[in-house]
Amino acid sequence: MTAQPAKSNRAALFEQHLSALQADFARAAAALTEEAIAQQCAEFKEVGFVQMEGIFNRDNLAVPFRQIAQDFRAQFNHALKPERPDISKAHTGFSLSRIFLEAEIDADRHGDQGWFETQEKLLQTAETIAHSMTPVLQRITGVTRFVGCKIFAYDEGDYLSIHNDAQLGDRVNMLLPVTFDATACIRVLYDERLRVYYDLPGCINILGPSVWHDVPPLLRRDADTTPLRMNFVIRYE
Ligand SMILES: [Fe+2]
Repeated sequence: MTAQPAKSNRAALFEQHLSALQADFARAAAALTEEAIAQQCAEFKEVGFVQMEGIFNRDNLAVPFRQIAQDFRAQFNHALKPERPDISKAHTGFSLSRIFLEAEIDADRHGDQGWFETQEKLLQTAETIAHSMTPVLQRITGVTRFVGCKIFAYDEGDYLSIHNDAQLGDRVNMLLPVTFDATACIRVLYDERLRVYYDLPGCINILGPSVWHDVPPLLRRDADTTPLRMNFVIRYE
């Protein structure tokens, strides 16, 4: 019985942060000036990628992410694609964990009520955020609708080799990365170099179609903490 209040407290905290996150995005979208959007638009045309800082309060995603990592680790599928000595990069390797958020399908498959409810909240959050940001994304990239979301988790040593998702057509991903106890980034190919975009607190990354990118291996920062990088991937078309 003693565990009950702590449990509901935890659930309340989870919901509070996700609600606050939705409010952050509504505010940020409304506050973006014409000038700022024009600037992002030019950058996106040039690089195929833009990063916008300080869109949300980091805690509003970090707290839910920590809870997911602790409580629902079993729901993640570890995905390993072997590296091949292939200079053409046709066989890109990766090692990471991921969850595709598809409430109804997963509810049938796993029968985990806690995860089912959590997933519903995450999906609803993604939809609300996507809705707030659609006019902004539309101006910058031309996409018009939210099509789905997933969460990636990188543990120590996990990585994503360089690739360009060309097989996914004209999708645009809005990425919300949060990193714990490490310095992590996404790298984007621009002007023959991989340009580093750190996981800054509250930043979003807008990744355009067929843009080459990678995520370097997640490295430990100090001996007594375990690094973790989580990334909320919100997809538009
Ligand atoms: Fe990708």
